[in-house]
Parts: sequence; C-alpha cells; structure tokens
Amino acid sequence: MPDVIRAPDGLYGVAVAETSISKSSPDGSLTYRGYPIKELFDKASFEETAFLILKGRLPRRAELDEFIENLRRHAKVPEGIYDIVRRLPSGAHPMDVLRTAVSALGAMEGSLEEREQQYSLMAKMPALAANCYRIVSGMPVVEPDPVLDHASNLLYMLSGKRPDKFDAWAFERELILYLEHDMNASTFTVRVVASTLADISAASTAGLAALKGPLHGGANEAAMEMLLEIGTADRAESYLQDALANKKKVMGFGHRIYKKVDPRAELSKGVLKRLVDEKGKGDDLYRLCDRLASAMWKAKKIPANLDFYAAPIFYTLSIPIPVYTPIFASSRIVGWAAHYNEQMAHNKLFRPDAEYVGSSDLTYVPIENR
Ligand code: ACO
Repeated sequence: MPDVIRAPDGLYGVAVAETSISKSSPDGSLTYRGYPIKELFDKASFEETAFLILKGRLPRRAELDEFIENLRRHAKVPEGIYDIVRRLPSGAHPMDVLRTAVSALGAMEGSLEEREQQYSLMAKMPALAANCYRIVSGMPVVEPDPVLDHASNLLYMLSGKRPDKFDAWAFERELILYLEHDMNASTFTVRVVASTLADISAASTAGLAALKGPLHGGANEAAMEMLLEIGTADRAESYLQDALANKKKVMGFGHRIYKKVDPRAELSKGVLKRLVDEKGKGDDLYRLCDRLASAMWKAKKIPANLDFYAAPIFYTLSIPIPVYTPIFASSRIVGWAAHYNEQMAHNKLFRPDAEYVGSSDLTYVPIENR
C-alpha cells in the first residue's frame, strides 16, 4: 500500500482518472473528443454530438440514422413511472421528482442489458424531464413526438406546442453545451458509482442527486432567480456590491477550471443576443446580464459560467424556471453514459482514504454513568 497523500479540499487540481471524452482547460478552451466546442456548436446537431461523445468519432449518415432510430424506439416512458410520479406531492422540486423517476425506471428495467439501459435512459430523459415537471404542476403528460429531434421534442413536451425553427436552434445549442464536461461533480459521482459495478440507472440516479445542488447544475435556476430579483440593468452594480460585501455567492459565476473565461458562456451570450433580437423582447434582460458580468469581472476577476447565460435563454424561450436543471440532466445523461463506459473499460474501485482527525483511545462508559 503506497503512503497516503492528503488531497486538497474539493480535490482541487487533482486528476482522478484518465479520460479521452472531453477536456476543459484554464485557458478557456473546451474540446469534445478533440473537436473544439465552437466547431460542434456551429455545425453539429445534438444527436451527432451525442454519438461523438459516446463512440469517440462523428457518425456516418447511416450510423446517425440508426442512432436516432434507436433513441426514438426507446423514447416513450412506461405509464407505471408516471403513476409513481403522480403519488409525489404537487409542487415537489422537478429534480427530486426526476431523480425518483429515474430510480424507479432502474427498478423496472434492471433486467435489460447494460447498453439497452443506457439507450433507454438517454432516450427517455427529455420526456421524464418535461413530464415530471408537468405532473407535479397539475398538467397532463405530453408524449414525445416521433418526428421531432431531441431538442425540439423536449421543447415541445415542455410547452405542448411545436417550437419554431429558431427557438429549436437556440435550445439545441444550449443542449450541446451542456452535453459533457469532463470531471465535474455529477460525472465524478457517476464514475464512483460505476466503479462499484452498479448499473447505469443507479449511477445516473446518483448523478442527478449531485447535479441538483446550486453549486453545480442547480446554478441555472438560482441564476435566473437572482436576475429576476435584481430586475433591471441599473441595479446590477449595487446588487453585486451588496452580495460581495455579505460574502454571498453570485450565482452563475465562477468555475473550478475556467478562471478567465468559460467558452460555453461566451457562445451562450451570443445565442441570447440573437434570441432577444429575433423575438424583439428580453433586451433588458440581456443588458442586465452584460452589466452584471462586467461588474463581476471588474470587482473580482470572476467570469460568468454557462449557467449564467443558459438561464436567461431558457427564460426568453418561456421555459418555467424549476425545469432548468432537469433540462441540463436531459443532455448531460449522454456524458454520464460515456464516462460510465470509460470507467468500466478500466475499472478500479474508487475508495479513497481519509485523514482521521477525531478522538482515539476512549473508554466505553455505561449509559447510566454518562
Ligand atoms: N460569487 C462570489 N464569489 C465567488 C464566486 C461567486 N459565484 N465564485 C467564486 N467566488 C470566490 C470564492 O468565494 C473564493 O473567494 P475567497 O478566496 O475569498 O474565499 C474565490 O472566488 C475562489 O473560489 P472557489 O470557491 O475556491 O472556486 P471553486 O473552484 O472552488 O468554486 C464554484 C467554483 C463552486 C463553481 C464557485 O465559483 C461557485 O460557487 N459559483 C456559484 C455557483 C455556480 O455558478 N455554479 C455553476 C458552476 S458551472 C456548472 O455547473 C455548469
């Protein structure tokens, strides 16, 4: 057994595994399987990018068609899952509901072969994300439309209306940016669970639990709540001053890897601008975001992250705030599956040590003498 090394808090700067799936760098670059994120953002569809992340290369036409068909075949959620969801309290947080539904799906599909379970989860996640929210909000289930792609289908199931081309384009860009991000907290969680040889449903249930927190996936919802609280661009600086003075986290800012720029935030800012121009509404929100980001950079040299711009994009697309993190999950499930498979290919159980700082050599005192 090697000497135990005390890792920094939060595993700051520690590589815990090798990966060939994606690479984020402090210089502000991000690649998926070697392709700069902007290449894929500009040119690829969600499904093509998902194939790339899962298989390590871009698909040929027939492969892509087969991949899409496979997802389509698995897209419908068994009614039994929705029956379970209906028993949860109305107004429950959609991430809690989604996590419960994915766990229940694991119990129902536990006998499926591992790869089938993965396709099932990736294909069903948009319907689960939308309908878990719909059910606890008292709305009827909307089944996936087989002619729509992953992004359009999710928008459709959220609103009950088929999205126009521009909205679908903007939304799909965000899903591509959310697809994968090396060793973030939820992906690490998925890999830890995978390393025990648990199945993908168990690993994804744990991934969803990790994603919910506001320091990770929950930040998109928290960022939007904060933007609404600030209200107008002219209040950006005073809000920031107050937050920093009170040691409050400004949601949607900061990142463990990106200390100068999050490339996904830059791309999303462009999407937000195009979206508000196209819709002729939301200009105030754009100006507020821009002003807050400038003030934060000036005050703390902390850049905006993806969640900071994804949130107002979803808001401008009229998506209800409590479903922002489930949307993140409906994309990131692909990255989780790729990491699950990578972990399994060279598995070693994650079982770190801990530096013990508690008492020792205590003597048991009978309860009546304590
Ligand atoms: N608001 C205010 N201060 C911040 C913020 C922020 N959003 N982010 C970092 N800081 C400060 C920290 O308080 C710390 O200050 P200190 O040295 O005086 O204590 C300093 O910047 C360094 O920050 P760390 O927390 O050490 O950076 P770390 O890499 O551990 O944290 C994290 C990254 C958790 C994302 C942090 O920036 C944060 O809490 N941001 C807000 C939540 C958020 O937006 N999360 C989304 C992440 S991206 C994603 O999941 C897609």
